[in-house]
Amino acid sequence: MSATRHHLNRSDSGETTIEPGRIMELGLGFWGSKTLLSAVELGVFTELASGPCARDELTSRLGLHPRSAGDFLDTLVSLGMLSREDGTYSNTPETGLFLDRDKPSYIGGFLEMANARLYPFWGRLTEGLQTGEQQNEARTGEDFFGKLYADPERLGQFLHAMTGLSVGAAHAIAAKFPFDGHSSVLDLGCAEGGLLVTLAQTHPHLTAVGFDLPPVQDPFERYVGSFGLQDRVKFVAGDFFAGPLPSADVITLGHILHDWNLEEKKQILSNAYDALAPGGAVIVFESIIDDERTENAFGLLMSLNMLIETQGGFDYTGADCQGWMREIGFSDTYVEHLAGPDSMVVGIK
Ligand SMILES: C[S@@+](CC[C@H](N)C(=O)[O-])C[C@H]1O[C@@H](n2cnc3c(N)ncnc32)[C@H](O)[C@@H]1O
Repeated sequence: MSATRHHLNRSDSGETTIEPGRIMELGLGFWGSKTLLSAVELGVFTELASGPCARDELTSRLGLHPRSAGDFLDTLVSLGMLSREDGTYSNTPETGLFLDRDKPSYIGGFLEMANARLYPFWGRLTEGLQTGEQQNEARTGEDFFGKLYADPERLGQFLHAMTGLSVGAAHAIAAKFPFDGHSSVLDLGCAEGGLLVTLAQTHPHLTAVGFDLPPVQDPFERYVGSFGLQDRVKFVAGDFFAGPLPSADVITLGHILHDWNLEEKKQILSNAYDALAPGGAVIVFESIIDDERTENAFGLLMSLNMLIETQGGFDYTGADCQGWMREIGFSDTYVEHLAGPDSMVVGIK
């Protein structure tokens, strides 16, 4: 077999095929990713929300240089992010719903953050892998989250972006977890309350408390109030490392444990255990890695993102989390898939 051949075919004669396409596609995957992130930054999808637009008009409205405007817009068409008919561009159903800044369903806040921060910080992944040290603003002594929490507008956008990211998991938890035997839910690190709104809407017998840092109270109460749920869904400000926490039948932890090191993870779980009623359950959900650590690429990449973003955070398998729960005293545990890369790990007290 020639060493210069780029691929080998599994032909009728039984020859094996090996092609370089997937390697190159993955290696240059950032081209497509950055094109989408720049489109969000430039407001392409918000501009098109008012209706289809011809190339020249769109180029001018977006302030693009004509040299690459056509390539940029047609790349977005080829990536399935825009449609084009007779030279006129429009949003796809998904980009029209999720990437128009003026719609409540906008999830681009998270992508804007990814564009402005994660994209450059991931350029330092190799150094992070060699040193084990986070590669975000903390490297230069800045405090991104401190600044975020001091700016109500940006904080509101961040918390709302979390709602968009967790919406699939929230609906799956509402459908899959047996809430019938429980009457109260406490969501630790609740952001603006997206999960609790979904749970309260689906299960009218539930009362709920969202628990988060003090600056989150206003955005939480505004969001919950916009659904008329303020009588059943309340906010308590606090720190989930400092017990005791408000007691509840069910305690949820969404995209929380992966931010922290092992000792901190166990501290949060242990505080949740203490706050649970007997027979109650903790539901941990995020992109839980499969036990063999071969399938859930998003979960594994998220764990590398925790290297970039946190001092000791990491993602983990369902078996890992069940082990910590058993150590703390939970009597029964199980893992159930939710949606996309997300699963829940349930521990019963
Ligand atoms: C990544 S967000 C997760 C939001 C939401 N649970 C979800 O899954 O969409 C983490 C949340 O934890 C909150 N948080 C961080 N440290 C906290 C602490 N020590 N005590 C309480 N909440 C905290 C943050 O304010 C933020 O709302």
